[in-house]
Amino acid sequence: MIDHKGRKIDYMRISLTDRCNLRCKYCMPDEGVSLLRHEDILSYEEIIKIVRVAANLGISKIRLTGGEPLLRKNITYLVKSIKNIKGIEEVSITTNGILLERLLDDLIEAGLDRINLSLDTMNCATYKEITGSDKLQKVLNGLYKALDSGLKVKINVVPLRGYNIDELIDLVKLTIDRQLDVRFIELMPIGLGKNFDSIENEDILKEIKKEYKIHKMLGTIGNGPAVYYKIQEGKGSIGFISPLSHQFCKECNRIRLTAEGFLKLCLHSNKGISLRDLLRKNISENELEEIMRTIIALKPDRHHFQEDTENEDSRRMHQIGG
Ligand code: GTP
Ligand code: 5AD
Ligand code: SF4
Repeated sequence: MIDHKGRKIDYMRISLTDRCNLRCKYCMPDEGVSLLRHEDILSYEEIIKIVRVAANLGISKIRLTGGEPLLRKNITYLVKSIKNIKGIEEVSITTNGILLERLLDDLIEAGLDRINLSLDTMNCATYKEITGSDKLQKVLNGLYKALDSGLKVKINVVPLRGYNIDELIDLVKLTIDRQLDVRFIELMPIGLGKNFDSIENEDILKEIKKEYKIHKMLGTIGNGPAVYYKIQEGKGSIGFISPLSHQFCKECNRIRLTAEGFLKLCLHSNKGISLRDLLRKNISENELEEIMRTIIALKPDRHHFQEDTENEDSRRMHQIGG
């Protein structure tokens, strides 16, 4: 559907859980996270109902996120069910990859189209520092298995001063021999992200240009806001997601559903409505459709990261799903 700013909204990100098996420093605190209760989280039946209605409203692409979406039991059932909904053309997942190797075959069989893998480093010690985990090898096994299976894969890297900056060129190098996209995401001041300095993608681009001759690609890959470049002889590409230095809100095509069923209109804003509360009052699908149509039309014009605003959402990134 088209919102009040004329933007075509065809993409929904669904967070399946606020839980995660990692503790990335800019996302989830080591202790003291208060997590949703099982009964507060949308059931698969509720999610499927919402997607059916969203598909009627023109949503054709679904991305499953978290916390860590692969922690949710029987996720392959959900992928398969969503893929079977009329109007849904693509189902993808953003994952940290810890459980990927184990679940990959079943996910592919269920119809999963693509994965985006959150991986800020290929160095075990740095991985431990950033995520608190020593399971990097498990993630890499999942990554290589996914690539070998022919699944489309993107790696999301959040550059962090003092952690992975000296490795960024090595990560870019991965795009030469493999059909793999590596994307740099500017750290956003959401939740714990506020404790870090964000590095502008322009600075990273400059560093890459010192090493490689790269050219900007026309158009985009996938459904997101990334801008892509390519090393001349590279099989994959290098993407930049720059919410701070190059606001892309004018082209924003997405809505979000949090694990507790809140339909969120913008990453930064708390505007939206609890679809869970409506569903649990036994609202019909037709009524749900009308409410969603009215609310989505009101999607905020843009984010206000760099300004103080009363509409700022207090949810952390693991509660939103990126
Ligand atoms: P494709 O491009 O279709 O592969 O997906 P995507 O980039 O939308 O999905 P992914 O989950 O990999 O998103 C990567 C990251 O980009 C997110 O985790 C966010 O950090 C950032 N991002 C995605 N969408 C938005 C958005 O609407 N606003 C802002 N500010 N950042 C976003
Ligand atoms: N800013 C930008 N990206 C973030 N992510 C988590 N927190 C932030 C933040 N504050 C990224 C993760 C993952 C994706 C789901 O969101 O690295 O790739
Ligand atoms: Fe988990 Fe992703 Fe947050 Fe890291 S960024 S703690 S992998 S939800």
